[in-house]
Amino acid sequence: MRRRVLVTAALPYANDDIHIGHITSTYLPADIYTRYLRLRGAEVIYVCGSDDHGTPIALAAKKRGVTPYEHASYYRERHIRDFKRMGIEFDIFYRTHSPENEELVRNFLIKAREKGLIYKKGTKQYRCPNCKMYLPDRFVIGTCPFCGAPNQYGDHCEVCGRQIPPGALVNPRCAICGTPAEVKDVTHFFFKLSALEEDLRRRLLTSKPHEEAMNYVLRRIEEGLKDRDISRENYRGFKMPFEDANDLYVYVRVDAPWGYVAATRKWAKEHGYTLEYRRGKDSPTEIVHFIGKDIIYHHFLFRPAMLMVSERFKLPTRYAVNGFLLLEGKKMSKSRGRYIKVSEITERYDHEYVRFYLAMKARNRLKDENRRRKDFQERINSDLIGNIGNLIHRVNTLAYRILDGTPRPEEMDEEDKEIVKVAEELLKRAEMKYEAINIGGVIDEILRAAGVGNSYLAKKEPRKNKSIAPGVLTSLLYLNATIVTVLHPIMPEHTRKIRESRGLKDFYREVPDASKIRIKEKPKPPFKKISVPEAS
Ligand code: MSP
Ligand code: ZN
Repeated sequence: MRRRVLVTAALPYANDDIHIGHITSTYLPADIYTRYLRLRGAEVIYVCGSDDHGTPIALAAKKRGVTPYEHASYYRERHIRDFKRMGIEFDIFYRTHSPENEELVRNFLIKAREKGLIYKKGTKQYRCPNCKMYLPDRFVIGTCPFCGAPNQYGDHCEVCGRQIPPGALVNPRCAICGTPAEVKDVTHFFFKLSALEEDLRRRLLTSKPHEEAMNYVLRRIEEGLKDRDISRENYRGFKMPFEDANDLYVYVRVDAPWGYVAATRKWAKEHGYTLEYRRGKDSPTEIVHFIGKDIIYHHFLFRPAMLMVSERFKLPTRYAVNGFLLLEGKKMSKSRGRYIKVSEITERYDHEYVRFYLAMKARNRLKDENRRRKDFQERINSDLIGNIGNLIHRVNTLAYRILDGTPRPEEMDEEDKEIVKVAEELLKRAEMKYEAINIGGVIDEILRAAGVGNSYLAKKEPRKNKSIAPGVLTSLLYLNATIVTVLHPIMPEHTRKIRESRGLKDFYREVPDASKIRIKEKPKPPFKKISVPEAS
């Protein structure tokens, strides 16, 4: 049976543009992994969509004088445009504000309540009389009741590190307009995450969906999982589907994660598949989620708990998790202008160079990665161009001149055959790295093999030693064909062009059959050097 895979990438908030951090941790590695799986013959779909709900979106919409849906649609379109600029191709980019999602969320909530996993509880909440709205934790500021530190957010004091109970902040005020906030008694719905602790632990221990994140997640379970509130006032997402819900809305924490399933359902329907085929409980599909490290809790605990309750869908097989991308060693910050949008960087540089560079930082590790502008220039000019591009161009040019563009496998001697072995080895090692979703590791392997090729070329000097030239160059054509194949998911367009210039098609299962190469025109260098100015 063909391997079946469902790849997802975290649904970006439709409230701002995409930056290169989002791309590096989430969307690019998922795109590359999907392309790799396709090369290997798997039946794979890559789904994503916009995360349309939440207070920040509702507020920004109010400011712009549009509805939250219109606001989300505006950013969703910009996301689609930016992903395209980066060569990131989804099979579907749907949205959480959709009828499919509403139905999935409703079914889950009703089932969970029937099972006794949802209950109502009184709590306190801040409200701004001027803005006429309830304030989420990030939108209320006041003095910590424990240590007296001023200017702390609603739920947590950054000075003493304590959790602040609902309503306990001293002198609370609205973070939007500064008006003193009122404390109201409200009733909310809670999801009994605590009841699923044992099931979640057991499942994590047997499926081991990510090596590094496991410690963190198991520690959270050990500390005890808290029941989570799942309703909100003044929200404009989906209404709570209960008679006694008054005017409460579903909190984004619940509806966003169903967005993956909703997008898959939409895709399946449009392509003549059932949702069960793609991701039903008993489907053999591997489900792989790409996320940044800040949303581990929700994806390893909260979301699987919801899927367990629903009893209908398969749980995640594994995750690819990446740390954050820093710029010159510091956190990206819009207000400090330390922030690189996709639109900016793709205007200035070939988007596949950007892919190559950012892919080096996608290693499926929680550790943060750093982007320095000089490093970008150097990785492109010395690694991509000086190493990989140099080997490709010199071998092509010499083969064109000396071999008339046609390899001669029968003239390879024992030493040349060692180079073919390097190609075979590269294919094996790169495949291991791809399977581990360590894209930076794939690039390390390519660079190593290209280095061996360049040394061989320098040692044998086929231009001077005409008698051995055919064997040497043929072996290096094998190595190049493999490098280009392995690089394909990372730089799809450039590698397609290189392959076409040699009359080759896609081969992955074995070392590409380089004997079929025909170089009919004078080769052009495959890449051009870049120069990154100081202030970029
Ligand atoms: N909407 C949520 C995800 C819901 S999934 C059901 C979200 N959106 S986001 O737009 O803030 O982030 C999109 C992706 O980028 C997430 O995987 C997130 O972890 C990741 N990153 C957010 N900021 C980042 C950096 N500064 N650097 C690298 N990745 C970052 O989270
Ligand atoms: Zn206010």
